[in-house]
Amino acid sequence: MEDEKKQRGKGHRLLLMPSPLQGHITPLLHLAHILFSRGFSITIVHTLFNAPDPTSYPHFSFHTIPDGLSQTEASTLDAVHLTDLINIRCAHPLKEWLASQLLNSPEPVPCFISDAALHFTQLVCDELKLPRLVLRTGGASSFLVFASFPLLREKGYLPLQESRLEEPVVDLPPLKVKDLPTFRSQDPESFYKLVCRMVQECKGSSGVIWNTFEELESSALRKLRQDFSIPIYPIGPFHKHLLTGAASSASLLTPDKSCMSWLDKQECKSVVYVSFGSIAAISEAEVLEIAWGLANSKQPFLWVIRPGLIRGSEWLEPLPNGFLENLGGRGYIVKWSPQEQVLRHPAVGAFWTHNGWNSTLESICEGVPMICMPCFADQKVNAKYASSLWKVGVQLQNKLERGDVEKAIKKLMVGDEANQIRENALNLKEKAIACLKEDGSSYCFLDSLVSDILSVES
Ligand code: UDX
Repeated sequence: MEDEKKQRGKGHRLLLMPSPLQGHITPLLHLAHILFSRGFSITIVHTLFNAPDPTSYPHFSFHTIPDGLSQTEASTLDAVHLTDLINIRCAHPLKEWLASQLLNSPEPVPCFISDAALHFTQLVCDELKLPRLVLRTGGASSFLVFASFPLLREKGYLPLQESRLEEPVVDLPPLKVKDLPTFRSQDPESFYKLVCRMVQECKGSSGVIWNTFEELESSALRKLRQDFSIPIYPIGPFHKHLLTGAASSASLLTPDKSCMSWLDKQECKSVVYVSFGSIAAISEAEVLEIAWGLANSKQPFLWVIRPGLIRGSEWLEPLPNGFLENLGGRGYIVKWSPQEQVLRHPAVGAFWTHNGWNSTLESICEGVPMICMPCFADQKVNAKYASSLWKVGVQLQNKLERGDVEKAIKKLMVGDEANQIRENALNLKEKAIACLKEDGSSYCFLDSLVSDILSVES
């Protein structure tokens, strides 16, 4: 029976296209892997910019389409602008390539699967009469907020006004106005427009695949099912379907594995792991508050400082001279970590995160409590859910200040509240594991997804 399931997709070819950002490439490749394990053959079509490394996936085929981005445009500094450009410039080359695949593919192609942010792919697929499934790489709760953007604007919550930040958003508990997604872009209106277009083209698709699980976001998923008349497949957490280590191979940067032997020398649940994902940037002043907060907390810490994380700096220049040396081995800094492995390590006791959805889900899957410091977009919603609803973290409020950092770390590492948060995190971890077992929610939704893909032709 199980073997039969693994072969169901055999003889069918799936074409998938990621948005070229780390937080989107990883889950799309994971999804491709999951579908490959059900027998489908896989082709990844991608932009030239941030192209995934095909050697990590010898069992997939890859095709590059020209994205027409100049050297200055090919940058994640303004991810909204980048996404807008891709949505315009890739339409023609993708349509040409897809049309040729539909004519010449040795195996039938039942559908195209693309990232929700690549809204242009809906029109391309409609023109070719090819069903499109959407992959939404973020959570369902934040998507519900995105789907409510026109209503939020109508009610005056958007654009954000300083005087209303502490007001509850009546239609979207537990959110306050300050938790609503925003984005620093060249053109402030462009984020609103991109979000509305993404939601609209999801509604026009044949279904949305989510890297989440029913037990985590049941209320948002229920609401989305009411509002969208298409199937919704929460089949996450994707990376837990797969063999350990599959995620690092989706990494655009090379992880520095030396931090693992440093972690081996630390006490159980003592280390604060600090990482703000692949796009967020912070100021020099903020870096100093983080550094001193970590130093004053007296806890060991592993800190990912990606080149480009500190605005205006190459790498570590803003840190005080001899910062790490003076801590006598209590701190370790890398440019990029093998994050999933780090979060699984028994020495890690807390994750100070920007609450990108992948980081949030990876932390939940390992039962690691979070210090939430969202920067933009869906991260503010994820942080609010993690701290106020799932109660698996604490949120750093207001201006980043070293005293608050020290307090937040202590709150998460010692005392009754810390114990309660840790227990909540372990309970949620169990649910994340259970949903993937046979007859678990994600397992069953994956079965329906495979059946629905195959039924397209019959
Ligand atoms: C972006 C957006 O910021 C986020 O809000 C959205 O939900 C997804 O796209 P990013 O900022 O990169 O993503 O954050 P996140 O979603 O957390 O993804 C980062 C990925 O990089 C994670 O899978 C994480 O494991 C990996 N990572 C991060 C590493 O492998 N090593 C590191 O050192 C840091």
